[in-house]
Amino acid sequence: MYTTPCAFVTGASRGIGRAIAIGLAREGFNIVGNATGYDVNDRSRGLAETQERIEELGVAFLPAAGDIADLRTHQGLLEKTCDRFGHVDVLVNNAGVGPRQRLDFLDVTPESFDHVLGVNLRGTFFLTQRFARHMVERKAREPAERPKIVFITSISADTSSPTRSEYCLSKAGLSQLARVCADRLAGHGINVYEVRPGIIVTDMTAPVKEKYDALIAGGAVPQGRWGKPEDVARVVTALARGDFDYSTGGVFEVSGGMNIRSL
Ligand code: NAI
Repeated sequence: MYTTPCAFVTGASRGIGRAIAIGLAREGFNIVGNATGYDVNDRSRGLAETQERIEELGVAFLPAAGDIADLRTHQGLLEKTCDRFGHVDVLVNNAGVGPRQRLDFLDVTPESFDHVLGVNLRGTFFLTQRFARHMVERKAREPAERPKIVFITSISADTSSPTRSEYCLSKAGLSQLARVCADRLAGHGINVYEVRPGIIVTDMTAPVKEKYDALIAGGAVPQGRWGKPEDVARVVTALARGDFDYSTGGVFEVSGGMNIRSL
């Protein structure tokens, strides 16, 4: 019998995903951390560092490297998790990529489109489908459980960036996927949430730091600062803990007020 809840976090080797994994570990979850195996742009020690920091908190960590865009890996990721922890209580779909090169909409290539959509949308869609089936089966056996799925989208779900159109499209699609999943799974007692970060300090935004510094100084973020990965992690932790159990399908903005339209 497994008594400690288990969270599966994609993209847990750094940035927002690592902060979410640590936040959930503090809450008492055992963690399965997925990420791509080796990333030349990764300035941290990847999943190994996440593992070290989580084990210090007294819970277990299982590294599960794998490319979520490769649908053939999904069953193995689930089996590995169930072999170690029995089941998945919370799936956090955090892994995501921006375009390798920011190009104007008029110049976007099919390769970039396929890469970004392949990870952010297609990969996440089918990974979620696989894990949701597992959650539905488990709920039928153990009705008292309250499994949850969280999608990390972006303000790009409804904010236009013409030099990242394929990214915006992937996040808009992911936002709708969260809504559809919430609708489909509500009757099974599985809650689904969308968390929509704004401008967060991570390796992903490092190449555009100066541009965003200037935008923030110019007032683009009402609260006047960069977001931190921990700002996102705190929201995910509250959702995973069950603080919002009579709520599903909602969007939680973590953007310092960028959601506000102002004249
Ligand atoms: P990051 O680039 O620092 O980390 C991305 C993580 O995803 C890494 O662990 C990487 O290994 C993993 N990953 C990438 N491709 C993968 C694949 N095919 N399969 C498995 N894992 C893969 O990114 P960051 O900034 O931490 O972003 C995390 C999520 O939050 C992404 O979905 C991103 O789109 C989203 N986001 C980030 C914002 C920001 O300002 N940093 C703002 C809004 C959303």
